[in-house]
Amino acid sequence: MNRPRPPATFATARLAAHPPRPEDAPAVLAAYAGDPEVTRYLAWKPYVRHEPLAVFFAECAAQWASGHGHLAWLLRFKGTATPIGSCGLTFEPAGTAMFGYVFARSVWGRGLATETLQFLVDWSLAQPSIHRAWAMCHAEHTASVRVMEKAGLAREALLRRWHVFPNLGPDPRDCIVGAKVK
Ligand SMILES: CC(C)(COP(=O)(O)OP(=O)(O)OC[C@H]1O[C@@H](n2cnc3c(N)ncnc32)[C@H](O)[C@@H]1OP(=O)(O)O)[C@@H](O)C(=O)NCCC(=O)NCCS
Repeated sequence: MNRPRPPATFATARLAAHPPRPEDAPAVLAAYAGDPEVTRYLAWKPYVRHEPLAVFFAECAAQWASGHGHLAWLLRFKGTATPIGSCGLTFEPAGTAMFGYVFARSVWGRGLATETLQFLVDWSLAQPSIHRAWAMCHAEHTASVRVMEKAGLAREALLRRWHVFPNLGPDPRDCIVGAKVK
């Protein structure tokens, strides 16, 4: 099955998306990647220094070059320089697109995650080789469940004791899956 190539840059009504670069790390650390409130339900712990984040962004560039793995974008308000969030997708398992998204606390509640996820869902399902668009979050992460729902991912499953969230402890927690298929 052909693996689609997402656009390296895209724009939504309010946001511009570009692949992260190592030199973006200090601004991303300041904006959201060091905030424990932001990372609470994420798969990574808050960053303390920008150097490891720059290493991660270098890995992101390699994944963009190969077209494999997690393809990530940084998000900024159009016409501005400061990153306010990021999103990404993975084509795993084959024929599906799985999404992630994170925003700085200062911009929560303005519909930006929904706007971003909607773009990713629409783009993915427009690809002939993609039949399923989906995302997953902690079962008690009400805001993310709502974002999935608003972007058209129907609540599909409760996966009990499915995923370890490193900021919440070592126990696997329940997760909710949202999906849209064609
Ligand atoms: C989850 C997150 C992405 C939402 O981003 P956002 O831009 O604020 O989302 P939106 O504004 O598009 O929509 C949020 C919705 O959740 C609702 N919501 C937010 N907090 C809520 C809460 N505690 N309880 C119930 N609903 C809540 C909002 O009211 C809104 O729904 P509405 O439009 O029906 O009112 C953002 O909080 C974030 O970046 N969190 C940290 C990273 C993260 O957890 N990412 C997701 C991992 S699965």
